[in-house]
Amino acid sequence: MAKPRLSRVPARKSSSSTMFLTLLIMFTFLVLILLALGILSIPSSNSRSSHKPNDLSSIVHNVVDKNDYDEGVGEQWVEVISWEPRAFIYHNFLSKEECEYLIDLAKPHMEKSTVVDTETGKSKDSRVRTSSGTFLPRGRDKIIRNIEQRIADFTFIPVEHGEGLQVLHYEVGQKYEPHYDYFMDEFNTKNGGQRIATVLMYLSDVEEGGETVFPSAKGNISAVPWWNELSECGKGGLSVKPKMGDALLFWSMKPDATLDPSSLHGGCPVIRGNKWSSTKWMRVNEYKV
Ligand SMILES: *[C@@H]1O[C@H](CO)[C@@H](O)[C@H](O)[C@H]1NC(C)=O
Repeated sequence: MAKPRLSRVPARKSSSSTMFLTLLIMFTFLVLILLALGILSIPSSNSRSSHKPNDLSSIVHNVVDKNDYDEGVGEQWVEVISWEPRAFIYHNFLSKEECEYLIDLAKPHMEKSTVVDTETGKSKDSRVRTSSGTFLPRGRDKIIRNIEQRIADFTFIPVEHGEGLQVLHYEVGQKYEPHYDYFMDEFNTKNGGQRIATVLMYLSDVEEGGETVFPSAKGNISAVPWWNELSECGKGGLSVKPKMGDALLFWSMKPDATLDPSSLHGGCPVIRGNKWSSTKWMRVNEYKV
């Protein structure tokens, strides 16, 4: 029954299927054009991130994610504070217990801090750095291994590229003048190569002063929300106020592997209170301990 009918109207059938195909192709092109023009958009699972990656109009971006895997730790999120230097704050990176643990561990071993002599590569006393400090060996115990793994996850640099944690203590009036973390000598880069990034963890709050300041940062330094709380020294650049548990990550090298002079940074004098911090320097290559 159907067969003869089909054979009787071949011309009509083919013209209607040609019409259908043409319409289909036209519709497809229309959708593609709308997609290209951005009038239509494919629903994305990532629709939460609304800011454009190149939008540098303000120095502070509230970014990334809350994460609730760790109970008893305050809300954790990452904030981009600058692209020149590349600097990020990871809020509530350490728990209060971890901060206290590091301080208690370091306290009996604090020594007057030194700086590296650029000619000999040896440590020397200095007036630019008046804090006291001590090194905790990498992988010393479970808590430290845990922190070091978290640093590796945050920086995407393997644990083996890290130097031992340094714990620092600044009392009222103590400071660290602006400096670079990268080396200009051969001696200090023999093991592990150049320092590529630094993670600076604040183990205590500081009532006044003690900011980490980047005097060569590009951008509107007074646009930070905490501008009015900064000390005179802190207003000399892009500043981060110490807050117990927060970690500051900044890069001493640019993505093209050249040294980044905008990573110049210092520790402002403590005006009121006490500052405890811990530093992890990360190398380009494996750092043998
Ligand atoms: C810098 O930021 C502050 C605070 O947001 C604003 O008042 C000031 O006009 C800005 N300066 C420039 C040069 O954009």
